[in-house]
Amino acid sequence: MSVGRRRLRLLGILMMVNFFIYVIVEVSKSAGQEKNSKGRVVVPLKKFWRKYTPHKAYWNKQQQKLERGYNPILALLSNMTSEENLSSNGSFLNPCDPDPFVASELSDFADLPDRFKDFLYYLRCRNYSLIVDQPHKCKHKPFLLLAIKSLIPHFDRRQAIRESWGKEIKSGDVTVVRVFLLGETPPEDNYPNLSDMLRFESETHQDILMWNYRDTFFNLTLKEVLFLKWVSNTCPDVQFVFKGDDDVFVNTHQILDYLKSLTKDKAKDLFVGDVIKDAGPHREKHLKYYIPESIYEGSYPPYAGGGGFLYSGQLARRLTNASEQVLLYPIDDVYTGMCLQKLGLAPEKHKGFRTFDIEEKQRDNICSYTNLMLVHSRKPQEMIKIWTRLQDPNLNC
Ligand SMILES: *[C@@H]1O[C@H](CO)[C@@H](O)[C@H](O)[C@H]1NC(C)=O
Ligand SMILES: *[C@@H]1O[C@H](CO)[C@@H](O)[C@H](O)[C@H]1NC(C)=O
Ligand SMILES: *[C@@H]1O[C@H](CO)[C@@H](O)[C@H](O)[C@H]1NC(C)=O
Ligand SMILES: *[C@@H]1O[C@H](CO)[C@@H](O)[C@H](O)[C@H]1NC(C)=O
Ligand SMILES: *[C@@H]1O[C@H](CO)[C@@H](O)[C@H](O)[C@H]1NC(C)=O
Ligand SMILES: *[C@@H]1O[C@H](CO)[C@@H](O)[C@H](O)[C@H]1NC(C)=O
Ligand SMILES: *[C@@H]1O[C@H](CO)[C@@H](O)[C@H](O)[C@H]1NC(C)=O
Repeated sequence: MSVGRRRLRLLGILMMVNFFIYVIVEVSKSAGQEKNSKGRVVVPLKKFWRKYTPHKAYWNKQQQKLERGYNPILALLSNMTSEENLSSNGSFLNPCDPDPFVASELSDFADLPDRFKDFLYYLRCRNYSLIVDQPHKCKHKPFLLLAIKSLIPHFDRRQAIRESWGKEIKSGDVTVVRVFLLGETPPEDNYPNLSDMLRFESETHQDILMWNYRDTFFNLTLKEVLFLKWVSNTCPDVQFVFKGDDDVFVNTHQILDYLKSLTKDKAKDLFVGDVIKDAGPHREKHLKYYIPESIYEGSYPPYAGGGGFLYSGQLARRLTNASEQVLLYPIDDVYTGMCLQKLGLAPEKHKGFRTFDIEEKQRDNICSYTNLMLVHSRKPQEMIKIWTRLQDPNLNC
């Protein structure tokens, strides 16, 4: 196409978009105008739109693009600007090949630690496959699903959980089932080959879910989105989900009592945990949670600490949908907070979730565990010890 004709076409599209915006504004004006009791039009005091300000940080910028894709009018606009880039064949790229553009879009890419490079190269790939599944796990429509994030070598943690707070229960109308969430621990990351032991474990206990991605800290968000998808597909009738780490102690009785006490209304949108508000990315390079300015700007939405939180099955299905509209973020619990925000929800704080542990002098007192829901962190032997003492019929607190 000649430059002149392209300009003309662009002008045409612009005029059409203008017209559509005019129609939409007029329609929403006549539909949305509120009148007070005297029949006068009420003019809102605050602006009802948000100004579009382009972001500088890479993640924010890419998220903005993704959001434009979900907005029909903005998608049309952005399609127009991409006319300028017809030669760039970017739209035909495979999302699971390393992104060829990212290195040039971040000025400090070369200096970033490897975990960030890996994260950014594969930011758009999330269609990993289940290589160990439990397709019948939820055939009895469980009341509570315990989903525990683990790592292949953590055999002792998983076994301690099976023998203590993670026991599967079937009593009356209450069914509790358990799955462990795993990725791969490949030889490239210097892990020993434990696949025979894992196969034995999985056949013995039927509680392993494993996907074919590299199990790393920054890939925990993949664990989250793949698990949500699994719940929606394979466990759609579950009433509640607990998701947490394999180094926490959970007072399952306390959680069941709490869940049974909820009203229908409260149960529907339930999301409780140890909620962190007004937080933002850490900027000190040596920290586990460090995020460079070039990747993310702004604060975090309220989120529940990833050590463990509790939510409804219905919300799990809505979160699965929302997650498609949120770009992967390297920190999994912050990511879940972002998805909740997309749904217009916020997690609720419950003081029984002690992801920062209880006072040191209370840790040996069994009575400090009777009323809590979760405490981080406990070793396998500690889990078994606390659980055994909690079962004592003569326990007097
Ligand atoms: C965007 O452009 C592509 C090709 O240029 C076209 O196939 C597609 O339909 C356009 N999308 C919209 C929403 O107009
Ligand atoms: C066109 O593509 C180049 C290279 O991918 C990019 O730097 C530029 O910002 C793009 N331009 C537009 C208008 O999208
Ligand atoms: C399409 O883009 C890829 C990645 O930039 C490049 O390797 C390839 O040569 C391009 N193909 C064509 C036909 O331009
Ligand atoms: C995901 O889907 C793409 C096609 O869109 C495919 O090429 C790729 O191999 C898939 N990735 C995985 C990990 O299955
Ligand atoms: C690990 O060992 C099993 C058999 O013991 C073998 O089939 C598998 O290919 C090995 N995996 C890797 C990544 O080497
Ligand atoms: C996440 O997993 C994918 C698939 O195995 C891998 O290519 C990527 O490097 C991993 N990302 C991180 C940050 O470890
Ligand atoms: C999720 O999205 C699909 C299709 O977009 C829709 O049919 C379904 O009702 C949604 N589910 C929930 C729970 O919002």
